Amino acid sequence: METVVSGIRSTGNLHLGNYFGALKNFIKMQHENNCFFFIADYHSLTTHPTPGDLHGSVKQVLAEYLACGLDPEAATLYLQSDVPEVTELYLLLNMNAYVGELERTTSFKDKVRKQPENVNAGLLTYPVLMAADIIIHNASKVPVGKDQEQNLEMARKFARRFNNLYKVKYFTEPQPYNFGQVLIKIPGLDGTGKMGKSEGNGIYLVDDPKDIRKKVMRAVTDSGPTEMNSEMPEPIQNLFTLMDVVSEKSTIDFFKEKYANCEIRYGDLKKQLAEDIINFTSPIREKILEISANNNYLRKVANMGAEKARESASKTIKEVREIIGFKPF
Ligand code: TYM
Repeated sequence: METVVSGIRSTGNLHLGNYFGALKNFIKMQHENNCFFFIADYHSLTTHPTPGDLHGSVKQVLAEYLACGLDPEAATLYLQSDVPEVTELYLLLNMNAYVGELERTTSFKDKVRKQPENVNAGLLTYPVLMAADIIIHNASKVPVGKDQEQNLEMARKFARRFNNLYKVKYFTEPQPYNFGQVLIKIPGLDGTGKMGKSEGNGIYLVDDPKDIRKKVMRAVTDSGPTEMNSEMPEPIQNLFTLMDVVSEKSTIDFFKEKYANCEIRYGDLKKQLAEDIINFTSPIREKILEISANNNYLRKVANMGAEKARESASKTIKEVREIIGFKPF
């Protein structure tokens, strides 16, 4: 049985990228492994949410985890901030994380470009906190989307560096995971790039059908192929990538053939895609609305998860402190 850890930031509702990049794997893995799935609320502080927004988002993501089918009896579901041992490990790992390597990470450089007014140290050390999240339970597998690949590489580096520094084989080097396939990137429908909360192009699990139709109908397209069997430009490829995850194979084949024959009508393609997304999200949406109204249940789940997660984390911290040389007199 392998130990699996992963998390999602609580900066807003979950979108299709979160679901197909990560959550789908959480659900598949939860019964056969020792799974820890958390809500990364410390990480969300890099964007300075108000106290009300912070709490509301955490609650919403927990309800969404449950609505998607995460089972709190099978996996440990918890809030990152309920496990203060994570912050201790973060501090310890920071001593062996170098400013130069942190400054060179793509996501940090991205943030510096996008929010020059708020380049805080939490952003710089974001991968260190992520490594702490993962190795606090000594995980071997981390189900994530493609955009987290570099963060996982850093987590392995920090685990290896700790082992080398103290001449121990204590931490496992965690591997990113997606059911034996390559890591996934769900695109946005605004032409290029990934679907993301900060990109503002998300189709959310909780969106109502009207919003989904509106978002899909607005998707960027072009004037259509003019040569038979021509290669698809990125915005069109993106529509098909989304179809790949929500539509029947026969539907996808039908529209691919239309594209190849230059007979495609993007309006029809979008209508179909919107309906297939709605079919997928509607039952989840209903459950989200039901569960998020049930405070008692959410409290019970969070308390149970916190207890299990702390038990595992405090064992690690105790051993790490000893390895480093913090010993009682
Ligand atoms: P976050 O909250 O941005 O995204 C959560 C998960 O969803 C995946 N994801 C996507 N996958 C495919 N296509 C997309 N368009 C897409 N958008 C998001 C992400 O790859 C991720 O798996 N730093 C993390 C949260 C985190 C974490 C961790 C993850 C904190 N500590 C420890 C794993 C292990 C983040 O911001 O993900």
